Amino acid sequence: MLVKLLLLPFVLLSCATNGNAGVTSAFIRTEWPSVDIPLDNEVFAVPKGHNAPQQVHITQGDYDGKAVIISWVTPDEPGSNKVRYGLSEGKLDLTAEGTVHNYTFYNYKSGHIHRCLIDNLQYDTKYYYEIGDGDSSRRFWFRTPLPIDPDAPQKFGIIGDLGQTYNSLSTLEHCSQTGAETILFVGDLSYADRYSYNDVGIRWDSWGRFAERSAAYQPWLWSAGNHEIEYFPYMGEVIPFRNYLQRYPTPYLASKSSSPLWYSVRRASAHIIVLSSYSPFVKYTPQWEWLREEFTRVDREKTPWLIVLMHAPIYNSNDAHFMEGESMRVVFESWFCHYKVDIIFAGHVHAYERSYRISNIKYNASSGSSNPVPDKSAPVYVTVGDGGNQEGLAQRFRDPQPDFSAFREASYGHSTLEIKNRTHAIYHWNRNDDGKRIPTDSFVLLNQYWGLNRRRRKLKKNHLHSVLSDISESLVV
Ligand SMILES: [Fe+2]
Repeated sequence: MLVKLLLLPFVLLSCATNGNAGVTSAFIRTEWPSVDIPLDNEVFAVPKGHNAPQQVHITQGDYDGKAVIISWVTPDEPGSNKVRYGLSEGKLDLTAEGTVHNYTFYNYKSGHIHRCLIDNLQYDTKYYYEIGDGDSSRRFWFRTPLPIDPDAPQKFGIIGDLGQTYNSLSTLEHCSQTGAETILFVGDLSYADRYSYNDVGIRWDSWGRFAERSAAYQPWLWSAGNHEIEYFPYMGEVIPFRNYLQRYPTPYLASKSSSPLWYSVRRASAHIIVLSSYSPFVKYTPQWEWLREEFTRVDREKTPWLIVLMHAPIYNSNDAHFMEGESMRVVFESWFCHYKVDIIFAGHVHAYERSYRISNIKYNASSGSSNPVPDKSAPVYVTVGDGGNQEGLAQRFRDPQPDFSAFREASYGHSTLEIKNRTHAIYHWNRNDDGKRIPTDSFVLLNQYWGLNRRRRKLKKNHLHSVLSDISESLVV
């Protein structure tokens, strides 16, 4: 009982709209150098064997979580297109056949890029899969989520702006330790665009081998950042997102999107919408039209958790990239409030920040105010662009801390969101503290749909109690 009483402030925190002074953490960690790990380091090791598959990664392959897209690269020749998979390591009795392609970027020639959809999977099941030929074949596994159900639990890891430095490696390792089942990636993958000419493609390859330690096992839901644009007139490469789109497929057709850059999936009890900060989104553009329709397809009775991913944050008080998300805020914020989005994750700014529930959609009201105000319908905005890339941290926050800002800290890390049931999720931001993972900003997120009093009264009384007993364990991470 004492533990539950101690936890009450955490529960209430998620209900608080504003009124508490925000916290600017004074924590300063000794930084490892913000430099990319050398290519001959073992984290980029090429797997042994002739033409062995490398850069293996998976993502959800359909709308509801019964399919997976598996991608990999073979360096020397196309090799087999097949994925052999099954329910036990000794019995890979199912086969799916994918496609293979390659491309050039300046004078760089990519390896043979395979992608294979495996569908009609069973929910809540561990699958083993094997790719490649003969002695060079490699084996991995993944788990499918629970069926779509309002109380289906799911643990998400949220990573942004990762890059390929020693800090990036720390973030990846820490995220793996949390047991996150699915990674929500908020853009800026490899930072290969910091290189020139053929080194751009080479650093996309090294990042693929680097991320494989997680992305071959946990599905990553991708969103694109500014470092994916790669507009390089000096080398004749001017088509945006080329390397990214060639390598990282998304299940966009399943959500009726016309572009892999914006799409949505449903997973367990969550509906996740991915937006592109660097594609047209103003009124009447394809992204705007798609999002307008997609919000009407969200069924909170089936998937009560509504999560949005984007790259450029809408609310952030760091000097770096200040106001860069403002144009998207003007276009989409009223929808975020109307549809009661639970939480929005963004990256881009290389520091951590969380907002209160606030909005700025009454610009034309008689007050004439254009400042954010407390708004119970608004999402919580989280910036988690602190994965650890070579550009280093964004150390300068604006002073004083704005009223909308609840917590901010300029150090590396990642977030987790553990959905417990239809009403409660437990959130942590985990700081990389010189090799250790330190949960630093933690709270319980109350669902925006079920948070409404008249709906909550319909729930069984023991709903809340069962969750609270779990929370005590999670705070002792
Ligand atoms: Fe960025």
